[in-house]
Amino acid sequence: MRASPLVALAGVAALLHVVVASGAEQLRPGVDYHSFANVAQFRVRSVDLDLAVDFDARRLTGHVDLNVARLDKNARRLVLDTRALDISSVSLIEKGARSTPLTFKLGPAREFLGKPLNIDMPAGPAGTSSVVRIEYRTQPQASGLQLLTPAQTAGKKHPYLFSQSQAIHARSWIPLQDTPQVRVTYRATIRVPSGLIAVMSAAHGPVDAKPDERGLTAYRFEMTEAIPSYLIAVAVGDLAFRPLGPRTGVYTEPSVLEAAAKEFVDLESMVSTCEKLFGPYRWGRYDLLILPPSAPYGGMENPRLSFITPTVIAGDRSLVSLIAHELAHSWSGNLVTNATWRDFWLNEGFTVYLERRIVEALYGQRREQMEDELGLQSLRRDLADLEPPAHHLAIDLRGQDPDEGVTQVPYEKGKLFLQFIESRFGRETLDTFLRGYFDHFAFQSIDTEQFLDYLRTNLLAKKPGAISEQEIHAWVYEPGIPGFAVLPSADVFASIDRARTAWSSGSMSTEHLPASGWSTQEWQHFLDNMPATLPRTKLDELEKAFSLSQSGNAEIAFSWFRVAIRNDYTPAYPALERYLTTIGRRKLVRPLYDDLMKSARGSELARSIYAKARPGYHPITQTAVDAIVKPGK
Ligand code: BES
Ligand code: ZN
Repeated sequence: MRASPLVALAGVAALLHVVVASGAEQLRPGVDYHSFANVAQFRVRSVDLDLAVDFDARRLTGHVDLNVARLDKNARRLVLDTRALDISSVSLIEKGARSTPLTFKLGPAREFLGKPLNIDMPAGPAGTSSVVRIEYRTQPQASGLQLLTPAQTAGKKHPYLFSQSQAIHARSWIPLQDTPQVRVTYRATIRVPSGLIAVMSAAHGPVDAKPDERGLTAYRFEMTEAIPSYLIAVAVGDLAFRPLGPRTGVYTEPSVLEAAAKEFVDLESMVSTCEKLFGPYRWGRYDLLILPPSAPYGGMENPRLSFITPTVIAGDRSLVSLIAHELAHSWSGNLVTNATWRDFWLNEGFTVYLERRIVEALYGQRREQMEDELGLQSLRRDLADLEPPAHHLAIDLRGQDPDEGVTQVPYEKGKLFLQFIESRFGRETLDTFLRGYFDHFAFQSIDTEQFLDYLRTNLLAKKPGAISEQEIHAWVYEPGIPGFAVLPSADVFASIDRARTAWSSGSMSTEHLPASGWSTQEWQHFLDNMPATLPRTKLDELEKAFSLSQSGNAEIAFSWFRVAIRNDYTPAYPALERYLTTIGRRKLVRPLYDDLMKSARGSELARSIYAKARPGYHPITQTAVDAIVKPGK
C-alpha cells in the first residue's frame, strides 16, 4: 500500500478543491496520461512479433500476437495504443491454432497520443489469458521508425532502418499497451532483404539459412526479461560486429567499425565498474549499435544493445560519458523503470548520477567535475527558459508530448538530488541503499511516490533529521534548485575562465591561448561562456588558429557554431550548413536553428538549410525543428 487512509482523504479533499477552483482534474500519481490502455482490466504479458521490412514501400508488414491476461472478469473491451497503423484484422488464437475474428474499432485521434484500438473480448474469469493476433502494417511516416535511403548511410549501398520507441512511439510500429507501467517479454521474427542484418534489444535466435520466396531472410530474437514497451527496438542495415570484451561489442556499418572499436575500447571495464558500484548486470550481453548520423538522440538505452549517435566518436574518447550513461540505464531505467513520464527523473536523474560515478572511477575526479559543472550550467540555462512548473522533478506532462518534456531538469536536477542525499548520508551508505533499491524493485515500474516511500523507510529512517520532509518537497515538487543543494565546485574551469577573460579583453593574444592541451570539456566551457558579441577579427583569429568550423568533434563544433551565429560570423556558415545537413541529433541541431531564427538574415539561412536537411532528419527532430523554423512572409 502506498498511502494511508488519511493521506488518501487529504488527496480527495485536494482533488475536490482543485476541481472547484480551476476546473482541471487533480493529477493522480501512477496514472499514465499518455496511454489509452485499460491496464486495470487487461495486461499484456508478452509480445510475439513477425514483421517483414519493405524498404520500397517504407513499411513493416506482418502481425503481432499479444498474450493478454485478464485482471477484471467484467471487462469486455481491450484498449491498445496505436498511431498511424493500418490494421487489417484482429483475432483470437486458440489452442490448436484455431482463430476466431474479433470485432475492433479505432477511436478518434488525440494530439500526440495516436488512436485507441478498441477490441471486443469474449467473457472469461479473471486470471485467464488469451492470445490476440493483430495483422497490420506501419505507415511510411511512423514516428518511431526512420528508414534511410542508401545515400543517407555511410556505405551508400544499402538502405537502413532503426526504431526509437521512447517515449510513446512503440505504438507507431506495434499495437500494444504503450505505457512504461506494463512490462512484457518479447519474441520477434524480422524478415529482411538479403545482404542486410537485423538486430534487436534482445538475444539472438536462429537465422534462416535461406531467403524465403520473397527473398527475405528471417532473423529471430527473444527478450526473456519483462521490459517496458519503450525498450523494444529494432535496426536493420549493412552491419558488421566487433567484440570488445567477453560480453561486450559494437555493431556499425562496416566503414565505421574501426573508429568505433577504438573509441569504445573501455566498454567492458565500464560494465564491470558499474557492477562493482551498483550490483550485478542482469541482461547478459552489452553491445552498442552505432547509428547513422541522423539518429535523433545521443543514445538510447535499449536493453542488451544501446543505440548510439556516431557524433560521440570524437577520436579521443572524450565523449564516452554518453556510453556510461546508456549503460547505467541497465540499472536505473531498464531494471527499475519510471511508471509514467511524470516520473522520468527516476530514469534520468539516477542515470546521470551513476554515469558520473563511472566517469570518476574510470577517468578520474577532474573529468567528472568538469562534466558536472557543464551539466549544472546547462541546467541553469534551461531553468531560465522554462516556466516554474516545468522545474519540478515530478512533472505534470498532461496535454504535452513527453518528448518535449526532455529538459535538463530530470537529468541534472535529478542528479543533484541524489548528490544531496549522498552529502547527508555519505557515499558508502548511499551506494548500499542504491544496490538495495535496484534489487528491491528489479524488473518493476515505480512512480515518484513509491521511490520516496522506499527512501523514507530504507534510508531516511536510519538517521532521523538528516533530511527533512520540507527538503524532499523542495527537490521534487518545487521549482528551481534548492538553496541548500550541494553544487559541484566551479573552480575546475578557473584557468579557462581566466584565459577567456584575458583573450576577449585583448590582454592575451590568440596565439598565447594555452589551448593546445585543452580537453573537449575545456573547449566547451571556453566557448559556451563567451561574451555576447565578439569582434570579427577575434573570430577570424580563433578560426585560423584552431579550425573550429572543421572540428571533427561534434560538441566543440556545436559550441563554436553558437558563437558564430550570435556574431553573424559568415565564414563559418558553409561548415554550419554541412553540419546541419549531416547530423540529425535533436540536441545538437535544435539550438542552432533557434539561434539562427533570432535574426532576419539568420532566419533566411535557417530556412534554406532546413529545406535541404529536413528529409534526412528523423521524425522526432523534424517535429522539433518544424516548431522553430517557420516559413518567411
Ligand atoms: N533515454 C534517453 C533518450 C530519450 C529520452 C529518448 C526521452 C526519448 C525520450 C537517453 O538515455 C538519453 O538521455 N540520451 C541523452 C544522452 C545522455 C548522455 C544525457 C541524449 O540523447 O542526448
Ligand atoms: Zn538517459
